[in-house]
Amino acid sequence: MIPAEPLYKGKAKSVFASENPDELIVVFRNDMTAFNGVKHDQFTDKGKLNATASEFFMKMLESEGIPTHYIRMNSPDTMIVRRLTMIPLEVIVRNVAAGSMTKKYPVTEGTVLDWPIVTTDYKDDERGDPMINDDLIQVLHILNADELKQVKEMALRVNTVLSRFFDECGIRLVDFKLEFGKAGGKIFLGDEVSMDSMRLWDKKTGESFDKDVYRFDKGDVITAYRNVLNRIIPGAGV
Ligand code: ATP
Ligand code: TYD
Repeated sequence: MIPAEPLYKGKAKSVFASENPDELIVVFRNDMTAFNGVKHDQFTDKGKLNATASEFFMKMLESEGIPTHYIRMNSPDTMIVRRLTMIPLEVIVRNVAAGSMTKKYPVTEGTVLDWPIVTTDYKDDERGDPMINDDLIQVLHILNADELKQVKEMALRVNTVLSRFFDECGIRLVDFKLEFGKAGGKIFLGDEVSMDSMRLWDKKTGESFDKDVYRFDKGDVITAYRNVLNRIIPGAGV
């Protein structure tokens, strides 16, 4: 049973305690936000679509040897996960320049990068999630050198698996954000892998199938999300 009050209510998901102290219940809500919560709306089925994608990718990554927090689905929008002590980093992998990279640096949107890069933001809404580098991560005791190496290697491995898969589905994986956490001294991929946390472009037309549709009013975001699911899970029929 889901408790009445969440332990934590984020911008898009609510996290509840479970009867098992090692597990949490994550409800993917229909809320959609952008620009650190400044833009906010609700869309029917959005939670279910992201939960379905996240379930699909967590299982795929697990089968490729990447430890994830995924345990099972409770209902279409509710995932049971391993309780992690979250590492306060947004680990971003980029294959193609887009979004904040093109605002901050002299590079044009759509430029294919010489190799996939990993950047990190310190996850703290009040501080505006500032960019953080390897030295800061270590001197602030967020991760030690070995853990940092593991996190970056896991992020790049996720990129290899997902990029190859999306390519076969006719989609270009432009960039994405991951969050990691620890349990029993081991590092796991946590949070979500969904259309909210990735940039996905149609390989032929360049059309966006991700949260940019909402961020920049490019069309119907739910149609875009359904499009992704129907391409990645044949017969999903969502
Ligand atoms: P943002 O949107 O910037 O990622 P948020 O906190 O608003 O931040 P939500 O996705 O709405 O994000 O909330 C989910 C919260 O649950 C996040 O704080 C995330 O770090 C945390 N979380 C995800 N997976 C786990 C886990 N396995 N154990 C503990 N906490 C988790
Ligand atoms: P980025 O270009 O840094 O930020 P923005 O989307 O605000 O321009 O985002 C890179 C990728 O990471 C993109 O696919 C969106 C994802 N992301 C999140 O899911 N959450 C976040 O808080 C941030 C900063 C990025």
